[in-house]
Amino acid sequence: MTILPDFGLMIDTHFCTLISPIMANALLTLFYLPEHTSGTLRERVCSTLRRAIHNGALTRGQRLPSSRILAKDLGVSRVTTEAAYSQLEAEGYLQRRVGQGTFVAICIVKSPPVANVIGEPHLSLRGRQIVQTGGCRDPEHPLPFAAGSPDLRVFPLKLWKHLTAQQLRLRGETLLRYGDPQGYRPLREAIAGYVSQTRGVNCDAQQVLVLTSSQQALQLIATLLLDNGDKVWMEEPGYRGARNAFTSAGGELVPVSVDEAGMRADDKLPAPRLIYLTPSHQYPTGVALSLARRLELLALAQRHRAWIVEDDYDSEFHYDGQPMPAMQSLDRHGNVLYLGTFSKALFPSLRLAYLVVPPALVESFTTARTVYDGHSAQLMQAVTAEFILQGHFAAHIRYMRQLYSSRRDQLLAQVHEKLGHYATPQPAAGGLQLSVWLPPGQESALTQQAQRLGVITPGLAALYQTANLRRDGWLLGFSALTPGEIRAAVERLARITAR
Ligand SMILES: Cc1ncc(COP(=O)(O)O)c(C=O)c1O
Repeated sequence: MTILPDFGLMIDTHFCTLISPIMANALLTLFYLPEHTSGTLRERVCSTLRRAIHNGALTRGQRLPSSRILAKDLGVSRVTTEAAYSQLEAEGYLQRRVGQGTFVAICIVKSPPVANVIGEPHLSLRGRQIVQTGGCRDPEHPLPFAAGSPDLRVFPLKLWKHLTAQQLRLRGETLLRYGDPQGYRPLREAIAGYVSQTRGVNCDAQQVLVLTSSQQALQLIATLLLDNGDKVWMEEPGYRGARNAFTSAGGELVPVSVDEAGMRADDKLPAPRLIYLTPSHQYPTGVALSLARRLELLALAQRHRAWIVEDDYDSEFHYDGQPMPAMQSLDRHGNVLYLGTFSKALFPSLRLAYLVVPPALVESFTTARTVYDGHSAQLMQAVTAEFILQGHFAAHIRYMRQLYSSRRDQLLAQVHEKLGHYATPQPAAGGLQLSVWLPPGQESALTQQAQRLGVITPGLAALYQTANLRRDGWLLGFSALTPGEIRAAVERLARITAR
């Protein structure tokens, strides 16, 4: 006896002697295939035979065993095989002739296997522009020191589960429907309240769009506000996700250097259509854009009728004093688009971010969202809104800020103590990662050595567009690591010897 996985049945291995010799081998192998184990027995018989006819294992004119014999051999009821044959006859696969038997009725010409296409697939110009950026993937496993991951081991899952169940109970049916493309209204209100209280952002819920991610926001901004060849000022070094979004839309990047006061505008640079900034905590150097520079850039944007995109990606995590209010709070002319994400403050797979746009842009952005993906998942928007409105978000941020602050201190101390022979840490008033400079020309070799020791050290050089400005360094993520994990990983890096 053996088991037929398709049917989960015991069957006599000698059943080939019991059925029509024509079918014996075919049926043995066909019904033995481990796929399609779901569905009713009738549907499983049907799909096995359909598959066999499609792939040429059964050909036109071939005779099948009677439904009685097939039923016996498979150990199923005759009603099942009879129903399966009738169904396949109705579909045109089989023909049943009274007194003669059941035959395969069609011949499906097998198409030649798909040739292994050699060379590039034919993509549109836009498609090529997108692919050429190389994309930007975030690490699925926050191994030390992958950058930018929150610690999900301490996320209040029980509470989240409770709020999810509560939302389903209270408004389950509504939340299962299509939703507002601009975002679930209570969440937009909660976000408007949160960013105006904590970041001084000037807005109401009508200006808030709830999106899947900052990346989606950047893609929408690029598509709606840039034409081919438009100049985009980018911090140098800067965030690759933004760079990719703008170049994908045909924007021409203009690298603008960053010093200890942030982006340094220069009148000699080509006039911008858009300026992308991370003012509260520059990515990746960690510096804050000074008030004087903020005012200067706002005036410049107004002069050139340019947009400013303020990416406030991790302002929740500021450890030494208060961060400056958002730049948007200084905007008097409606030039600033303010961007925030829940990827760091809650969890990345939530896929919720927000964009606060000047009133004049609300309608266009909402319409564009309908062309992209409609809206974000209603249930998660409702749960997030409740999480904020019931005060859990503020408490969670307070707790995580303390936790991350102590981890930042620990990493800084460990780097000073054990990696001082080749790494120079930069100020890290906030954020989830620490940048360290490395001796010139050594990033690649040191990164390879780290990798051999099982440590991931995201590089800084790749975040520059201009080769001669490039500085070697690492961006070490600390937020997802316990003190013990930080210590162990730094100890491994301490074994590296710089030239
Ligand atoms: C500057 C900056 N903006 C945005 C993000 C990501 O946000 P999201 O996951 O919402 O795309 C990151 C992630 O590391 C970032 O560094």
